[in-house]
Amino acid sequence: MATTKGNVIVGQSGGPTAVINSSLAGVYKTAKDRGAKKIYGMLHGIQGLLEERYVDLSKHITSDLDIELLKRTPSSYLGSCRYKLPEIKENTEIYDKIFGILDKLEIEYFFYIGGNDSMDTIKKLSDYAILNGSKIRFMGVPKTIDNDLAGTDHTPGFGSAAKYIGSITKEVIRDGLVYDQQSVTILEIMGRNAGWLTGAAALAKCEDCEGPDMIFLPEITFDVDEFMRKVADLHKKKKSVVVAVSEGVRVADGRYVCELTDGIDYVDAFGHRQLTGTARYLAEKISREVPGCKTRAIEFNSLQRCASHIVSRVDITEAYQVGAPP
Ligand code: F6P
Repeated sequence: MATTKGNVIVGQSGGPTAVINSSLAGVYKTAKDRGAKKIYGMLHGIQGLLEERYVDLSKHITSDLDIELLKRTPSSYLGSCRYKLPEIKENTEIYDKIFGILDKLEIEYFFYIGGNDSMDTIKKLSDYAILNGSKIRFMGVPKTIDNDLAGTDHTPGFGSAAKYIGSITKEVIRDGLVYDQQSVTILEIMGRNAGWLTGAAALAKCEDCEGPDMIFLPEITFDVDEFMRKVADLHKKKKSVVVAVSEGVRVADGRYVCELTDGIDYVDAFGHRQLTGTARYLAEKISREVPGCKTRAIEFNSLQRCASHIVSRVDITEAYQVGAPP
């Protein structure tokens, strides 16, 4: 960002992470250091901006300590959204409205912190600005636990979530060893169609832990029968079997494994199906088909997103009500 005498606006969008507020703090501090007059925060991303919901961040971040606390506070301080902008040619009204609001606020730089869907928003706004001669600069700030943003080596948010998955997998493996009874535990891990986070379950392996017995990534077609054969085989040889499976594994016809259940059928604005129930489906199948096998499904779900190993100070949660915009 060049030096500016104008105003800046920043928003957060998509799933939260343990460090998305650190990116917010970075944008805020840089904009301030480079002379921005006002730095606004959109509440609940572009969806909130459309309803003119924003705050003057300098009224909420008033000291260096506030910046430090914000950096260390997991989850999205400004609130988030999953809001898909239409194609420009389909609906220019919505863009006229957004640019009207931005012009009223005298915005020169617009920052949006998020993953692939948020970058879609930035691209559309930037295209509209070019088409209409607007001078506003649109910048995407990468974040996602999925680690699947093109052009990035790794995304902020992935590291903390990966560390959490590695640690918790080891704890589950330890837990499985306590009873003198056989069991199979299925861990379901986020990441949608990217296997980075599920792959991080392998971090559990070290000199005092043999790691998960199998890891299933979404990039590889999932064969339910083959899975059942492998589990039954391991079950014969071991007391405790622990399997890490991505929420995004699909069978040969393209359906997600979680779609084989009668579970939740929610699709978001970007057309993403809510992926939940894979571990439960597999654990129930094992329980039915492998006699005498104790099974457990653990869906890490949103637990892994804001998991942070750097924060445990009471004053941080007092200073920033996580999930409740200022
Ligand atoms: O995009 C990040 C992510 O955490 C994915 O791994 C996951 O599939 C998705 O968000 C879940 O989103 P939501 O909490 O909106 O259901």
